[in-house]
Amino acid sequence: MQNYSEIEKNTFAEDILKGLSSNPKFIPSKYFYDDEGARLFQKITELPEYYLTRAETEIISTQTEQIFNVFKQKSKDAETFDLIELGTGDGRKTAILIDFFLKQNTNLFYFPIDISPRTLSTLAENFRRKFPKLQIEPKFGDYFQVLKDFKPNPTRRKILLFLGSNIGNFSYEQSIEFLKKLRRLMRKGDFLFIGFDLQKDPRLILRAYDDSQGITAEFNLNLLRRINKELGGNFDIKKFSHYATYSPIDCAVRSFLISLENQSVFIEYLQRSFDFAKWEAIFTEISQKYSLQLIEQLATRSKFEIQQNFFDSKRYFVDSLWQAV
Ligand code: AVI
Repeated sequence: MQNYSEIEKNTFAEDILKGLSSNPKFIPSKYFYDDEGARLFQKITELPEYYLTRAETEIISTQTEQIFNVFKQKSKDAETFDLIELGTGDGRKTAILIDFFLKQNTNLFYFPIDISPRTLSTLAENFRRKFPKLQIEPKFGDYFQVLKDFKPNPTRRKILLFLGSNIGNFSYEQSIEFLKKLRRLMRKGDFLFIGFDLQKDPRLILRAYDDSQGITAEFNLNLLRRINKELGGNFDIKKFSHYATYSPIDCAVRSFLISLENQSVFIEYLQRSFDFAKWEAIFTEISQKYSLQLIEQLATRSKFEIQQNFFDSKRYFVDSLWQAV
């Protein structure tokens, strides 16, 4: 019988086979987050150009009480919550919320879900030390894989956290499908607290995805390193280059890896080579930016009602609090 990591490796291999055999070529962005990718993403969040994390941290740390009050008012007799977080990262923002909830004597069960095992175990260790009263059950894997097998207590009100503009890594249509799927796992009255990066000066957005220190480039190129490491690929990283675009028409950043010459790459696990023409692109990520009108549409189409929007002082970002209707 195959063990879990072999199944995962097969899925990774199948997705790479599919993506590199397509025209145009693509690699799904969820594969960024091996341990090295998670470490590089952490560095991205500290870059001067990457405003997203700072803006969201400002929202959560300066409006904690207001956020808590909406949860409290909109769930009158609930004192116990299941806090389910999709994609935790280092959990710094969540820690601010949890700290406040616990200080209000809220009974909290915390279920962090993440695709990077190291990120998840470090987070669980830190949170257990920091919040001895918090009941915490980390879940490793893909959100839906985990949520499908997840049987939360039906008597507890659920709060789903989907911070950091993770929703932006889906196209608009994909995010509707995603949110509808999430909604089906929730009951009327449950909450979704979700972070969106807002439309702004296109130059500012683009700089966030093409930083001057080249950390984002390393993050993108790490996909090829991961294929080399896990699937026995022979990508020569120097022969690919990170390229990001922002279109103010559909409000999406798209990231690519561009082949700098005609080349052929062999992947041992797949027993196959893939040809790349000079200047051919591999599409690796979409980072969708939102308007308030589009957010409203998303909520309505996926059967949620917006309770309140929380903005940072520059109105770069919004954390939107939704309730399932
Ligand atoms: C995780 N996600 C929301 C990030 C984003 O902004 O799309 C990932 C990222 N890609 C490049 N920089 C950051």
